[in-house]
Amino acid sequence: MAISSDIIPNNVDLDSNRKLQKALVAWQPRFLEWWNDMGPRGYQQDMVYLRTAVSVESSGWAHYDYVRMPEYRWGIFLTPNDPNRTIGFGDQMGKPAWQQVPGEYRKELRRLIVTQCDTEPASVEQQRLLGDTAPSLYDMRNLFQVNVEEGRHLWAMVHLLHEYFGRDGREEAEDMLMRRSGDVDSPRILEAFNKPIDDWLAFFCFTMFTDRDGKFQLGALAESAFDPLSRATRFMLTEEAHHLFVGDTGIGRVVRRTIELMAQREDRDVTQLGGIPLTLLQKYINEWYSASMDLFGSEDSSNSATYFSAGLKGRFGETNGKTYEDHVALETYRDLKWMEEGRLTNHEIPMRRAMNLELADSYRKDCSSALNRWNKFLEEAGLADRLYLPELSFNRKVGVFSEHDYDVSGNPVAHNDFASGCVEWLPSEADKAYVKSLMVPCLELGKFANWIAPPRKGIQSNPIEFPYVQFHDKQTTEA
Ligand SMILES: [Fe+2]
Ligand SMILES: [Fe+2]
Repeated sequence: MAISSDIIPNNVDLDSNRKLQKALVAWQPRFLEWWNDMGPRGYQQDMVYLRTAVSVESSGWAHYDYVRMPEYRWGIFLTPNDPNRTIGFGDQMGKPAWQQVPGEYRKELRRLIVTQCDTEPASVEQQRLLGDTAPSLYDMRNLFQVNVEEGRHLWAMVHLLHEYFGRDGREEAEDMLMRRSGDVDSPRILEAFNKPIDDWLAFFCFTMFTDRDGKFQLGALAESAFDPLSRATRFMLTEEAHHLFVGDTGIGRVVRRTIELMAQREDRDVTQLGGIPLTLLQKYINEWYSASMDLFGSEDSSNSATYFSAGLKGRFGETNGKTYEDHVALETYRDLKWMEEGRLTNHEIPMRRAMNLELADSYRKDCSSALNRWNKFLEEAGLADRLYLPELSFNRKVGVFSEHDYDVSGNPVAHNDFASGCVEWLPSEADKAYVKSLMVPCLELGKFANWIAPPRKGIQSNPIEFPYVQFHDKQTTEA
């Protein structure tokens, strides 16, 4: 049995690629089984207004229509081939990009692809219960859009495993459907993808901070000498932009609503009105930002040096002609201070070993621009409160800062002081319970839950009052 490209939209010539067809015939039904088990619970029969990529042309990559999620057409797309592409950095800079996996880097490339790939189904699993507490139809649709596209990203990476890694690749592709986020015996590979996302504030923080790590990882892989990986990740980045938009504007809308509620009370205590206090939002930011920082890996890393030297993974914007001049990075260093033997000590890290740090810097800048937008809302409302990003060293479980405790401003602190400071810095069980208490579904057409402001506009020039989800078993109530 063959799988036609009507079922799997693609630009990898699936119709004539027998080997790939054969692999997908076995994998696709298992994927659907996984989706039905682990995808959004309770909404699989509903019609959702979704975009689907049906080709890579600007007219085709975002096709909007009502779809039942299990009938979504998960496609395989690579950004079109540039036959003259050369390696843009590292020891082999200037040589032609690779169309096949070189034997000497097979292990490293597989590891990079598997690690990225594993995050895609993980996030769907983390978010599978959120539909039940959606603050609006608009938000519910955005959640499902993110979910189906993470499913497509799984396809994009599994395609690489099937096509270029033979039997090992097929086994890795199987394992993608076996591991489970948060499972004790068979967890997802990276820690932030085992954290539960059980309220919408966490969802917005995840899409703002953790998906944004994804943007930078994908951007670094888009520079790869292994051309199919570069082309797959480039196309994934076009979809990723919407996920980040969901997080960025989601938190922005929480800030705007909180400002409105603050104005209604002299003591500005929005918890009396069912709102999310800025201090509580800040704790969520601290938690998700620091967990996402861990995803970059150690600031001083021999793996990152190997990846860079070999041309497997570059920096963000490595070859855009604007960000970096030196693509060999053999003679420069990064200074970084961390605690060693009880003292804050400066370390000179050879640049190639500091590539994770470089990537994390680009990420931080990107996060800061969202913070500036949210702070603008506060400023315009005449409030002195400001939101911030904690320093790199705060609350780290991975990397050079993980051995010692640091406060949100980056000062080393004794372990006891850290533990007591966390009351102020990280959400407590009571904080999470409060946020959870606000999570009541709001499915009335054009209405929004009390704790969040409506968006400025709807999806794809549709109005905000638009039936973004049509339920098969319940009526969407008219406002
Ligand atoms: Fe993704
Ligand atoms: Fe994403």
